[in-house]
Amino acid sequence: MTEIYLNGRYMPLTEARVPVLDRGFLFGDGVYEVIPVFDGRPFRLDQHMERLDNSLHSIRIRNPLQPDDWGRIFARLTSATPELDQLIYLQITRGVDPTRNHLFSEGVAPTVFVMAWTAKPRDPSIARDGVAAVVLEDNRWQRCDIKSTALLGNVLLRQEAADAGAEEAILVRDGLVTEGSSTNPFIVQGEVILTPPRSNLLLRGVTRDLVLELAREAQMPCTERHVTRDELETADEVWICSSSREIQPVTRLDGKPVGEGAPGPLFGRIDALFQDYKARLRSGDA
Ligand code: PDD
Repeated sequence: MTEIYLNGRYMPLTEARVPVLDRGFLFGDGVYEVIPVFDGRPFRLDQHMERLDNSLHSIRIRNPLQPDDWGRIFARLTSATPELDQLIYLQITRGVDPTRNHLFSEGVAPTVFVMAWTAKPRDPSIARDGVAAVVLEDNRWQRCDIKSTALLGNVLLRQEAADAGAEEAILVRDGLVTEGSSTNPFIVQGEVILTPPRSNLLLRGVTRDLVLELAREAQMPCTERHVTRDELETADEVWICSSSREIQPVTRLDGKPVGEGAPGPLFGRIDALFQDYKARLRSGDA
């Protein structure tokens, strides 16, 4: 029986209830995080909690809990199966209003929900064969840097990709790559790794930042700069990354092969560095 945390209480998932006037339900008025856990150790916890604070600040909600409180909740929810890799999902909404009203109401306590679930083991065929992606127009709002639960734009784009037989939609706004529907993209040109710079038009992925850090440590040339649609379509390699997918090579883009149509050599190097980082985290060294 999965236990979850809701507003100060632990309870079985099947018993958790949120009132229909919760602003998360009515307006998507909330923010969230997804944090991987390897052998009971959260992955880049400080970075995830810092991004949570930034998201909360942007939508004018005070973090309702202290770092120690969050730590205790995560430890309790992940302790049921510490031997398995897990993902923590946490969500904070502006809370339950007395009536439906777009304006914030005074004195409403945020709703806090946390759950952990077992992560699927890495599928070896993905690193071997890669995944397919399509390029779609980024029609979302201008504050994609906020990790908002209002994900309808992302949901529709991801579904459009799936309907076209692809794993992910890589998004382009005004001719420039922003991000994926739930991932950050990288491209490789020759020996150089490129990813779009941080801005209000994309989420600053924790995995993306680690990929940049690992590449720089290994002296692999990498740059944060604008990437055009044409550069994406003619790249030698394309990768996507996120907390739940790690790093995945894209080997087909809009039905055409990327590079040789197989994962490239730089993917092999960065993925090995990433797996090594995970191994260090498991043994308490990262
Ligand atoms: N999504 N961009 C978007 C729009 C995302 O939703 C995500 C992650 C990322 C990658 O961020 P990170 O590396 O910090 O996971 C980029 C999560 C996993 C989700 O919604 O399930």
